[in-house]
Amino acid sequence: MRIDVVTIFPEYLEPLNVSLVGKARARGLLDVRVHDLRAWTHDRHHTVDDTPYGGGPGMVMKPEPWGEALDEIIGTATPPPALVVPTPSGRPFDQELAVELSRAPWLVFTPARYEGIDRRVVDEYAERLTVHEVSIGDYVLAGGEAPVLVMVEAVARLLPGVLGNAESHRDDSFAGGPMAGLLEGPVYTKPPQWRDRGIPDVLLSGHHGRIARWRRDQALARTAANRPDLIARIDPAALDAHDRAE
Ligand code: ADE
Repeated sequence: MRIDVVTIFPEYLEPLNVSLVGKARARGLLDVRVHDLRAWTHDRHHTVDDTPYGGGPGMVMKPEPWGEALDEIIGTATPPPALVVPTPSGRPFDQELAVELSRAPWLVFTPARYEGIDRRVVDEYAERLTVHEVSIGDYVLAGGEAPVLVMVEAVARLLPGVLGNAESHRDDSFAGGPMAGLLEGPVYTKPPQWRDRGIPDVLLSGHHGRIARWRRDQALARTAANRPDLIARIDPAALDAHDRAE
C-alpha cells in the first residue's frame, strides 16, 4: 500500500518511522511519503492560510497550495488514490472504515490546521476520486496530524504480513469473529503471583471450553460497563454460535 501525507508539519509524522508502521515500511509492505504543503506555495512567507469569508474567528487553509500539491502527487495515475480528510465534522472512524481503507492500494491524507481547508478542495477532488472525510472522535484537536497517525496505524496493522500472527486480529475489540461487537476482556501473563494478586483459576485449568466462555463473559461485562451502547447492537445469534463452537 502507498500512503501520502500532505502537511505543514512533516516532523509531526515522524512516529511513522517507528514500531509497527516503521517496520512495515522497512519491509516494503508500506510506502509512506510525507510532503510539506509549503513546498507548493509561491510567496516569500509560504502562506497557507487566510481569513474566512463571512467573518468569524480563526484562519482557513487556502485552496491553491492544496490543489497544486494534490495534482502533482496524484498526477494522472489510474486508478487514482482515495483521499482521506481528517476533520471533526467527518464520519466517525471505526474498525469497519479501517478495514475498508486497508483494502485501497493508495491513500492520500490531507491533515489541516486552523479552521480547516477551503471547501472547494474537497468538492473538486470528490468529482474525480473517493473522498473520506473522517473524524477520530467527538473532540477537537489542533490539527489533523494526530488523526493521521491514528488512522495509518489502524490501517497498517490490517495489511497482509504486517502482524506476525494472522490470528491476532481475530479477537480484537470491534473485529468480526467469535467476539464480534464486544470489547476485549482482561489479559494476564507470568508471573502467576504478583504482589498479592493471582490469575483467575479458569485460565490455569487447561479447559478450552471454559476459558472461551469465561473470556466471553468478561468481554460482555466490560462492554456493558464501558460501552452500553454496543450491547444493544450485539447479534444474539453470534453469541449462540460462540457457545456452540466451544
Ligand atoms: N481535526 C481536529 N479534530 C479532529 C478529529 N476529532 N478528528 C479528525 N480530525 C480532526
